[in-house]
Amino acid sequence: MAILVTGGAGYIGSHTIVELFGEGYDVVVLDNLSNSCEKSLERVEEITGKKPKFYKGDIADREVLSEIFEKESIESCIHFAGLKAVGESVAKPLEYYMNNISGSLVLFDEMRKHNVKNIIFSSSATVYGDPAFVPITEECPKGEITNPYGQTKGMLEQILTDMYKADPEWNIILLRYFNPIGAHESGRIGENPNGIPNNLMPYITQVAVGKRECLGVFGDDYDTEDGTCIRDYIHVVDLALGHVKSVKKLEDKPGLKVYNLGTGVGSSVLDVVNTFVKASGVDVPYEMKPRRAGDVPVNFCDATKAKEELGWVAKRDLYKMCEDSWRWQSNNPNGYEE
Ligand code: NAD
Ligand code: WQD
Repeated sequence: MAILVTGGAGYIGSHTIVELFGEGYDVVVLDNLSNSCEKSLERVEEITGKKPKFYKGDIADREVLSEIFEKESIESCIHFAGLKAVGESVAKPLEYYMNNISGSLVLFDEMRKHNVKNIIFSSSATVYGDPAFVPITEECPKGEITNPYGQTKGMLEQILTDMYKADPEWNIILLRYFNPIGAHESGRIGENPNGIPNNLMPYITQVAVGKRECLGVFGDDYDTEDGTCIRDYIHVVDLALGHVKSVKKLEDKPGLKVYNLGTGVGSSVLDVVNTFVKASGVDVPYEMKPRRAGDVPVNFCDATKAKEELGWVAKRDLYKMCEDSWRWQSNNPNGYEE
């Protein structure tokens, strides 16, 4: 039996496959390579000695999905595939709704047709909006989502919840990730953004490696200790291990479950910059910039539920996240391009 990993060539997907192989699972990947390349899977093979079976295709393509479900014996799906850039989603809402919502509907329908009713879905802390309280538990009400990308996460959570209510044979785990950073310890796989990075850590590493001059820190007048925003950064390998625990949980037929995956520790933008400088030994020039629209001041989670029900705890600290991000970036200044 194998696990279908949609979006498996991407950042979180490739790290998750390494950990799935480590636990002896077979993996089939479906990815259209719109934001990744097959090289990441070759590197997974380098690390683990195994290459997942790869289908280049779209989650909206019924033919390729039928082929996969007919040829491979799929027992569950980890659904990473999706577009994820917040700013781009504001400019191209239709593309985001089409890719993330329409594509996922086709995937779910083909899963149902082939009687594969076990799924783990990549959701996001973005569904909490400006959270009603911190640390955020799973009971925290969903907040106002300010961009189409985040809306697709909220909508897909609702769609999966309604599917479960109508047919309790489904087992569905919604994982709300906080801020994944870091890379595999080998330095062979990591985050590989196209163009100017939107997210903090890839921007920092690109400044450190000399590809960009200076980091802009978006806002130093928030009501936090140093005035910059607080986030719950989580090492991508810990996140990947959270998926392995979730796959095991699916084997117990849990019904519908929701888990926060974060460390429970909040770090400011300046904490990240300062820790990165220590871990890498490289200076990161930065300057203060105005607040970025849509940023919430403070966002970190209570991950107790994942600890109690999945037996999962994030173990890697911010220093380790910075060290591993830097190893990846400094060894691969142009990502997977050689
Ligand atoms: P990523 O862009 O590196 O990976 C996504 C993968 O999906 C890419 O390989 C891309 O080519 C593929 N893809 C996109 N649309 C597809 C389609 N229609 N058919 C087939 N493949 C398609 O992103 P990531 O950071 O690894 O994120 C994985 C998932 O986790 C996404 O759903 C993302 O929204 C979610 N998530 C990410 C973060 C984060 O900060 N990285 C936080 C919360 C949630
Ligand atoms: C972190 C902090 C910025 C860049 C986003 C998505 C969220 C989830 C994770 C997918 C903020 C500051 C950033 C820069 C900066 N993704 N910053 N200078 O916004 O918390 O979350 O990624 O689901 O949905 O919204 O992450 O890394 O963009 O920002 O000062 O150049 O770093 O203002 O305080 P964010 P981020």
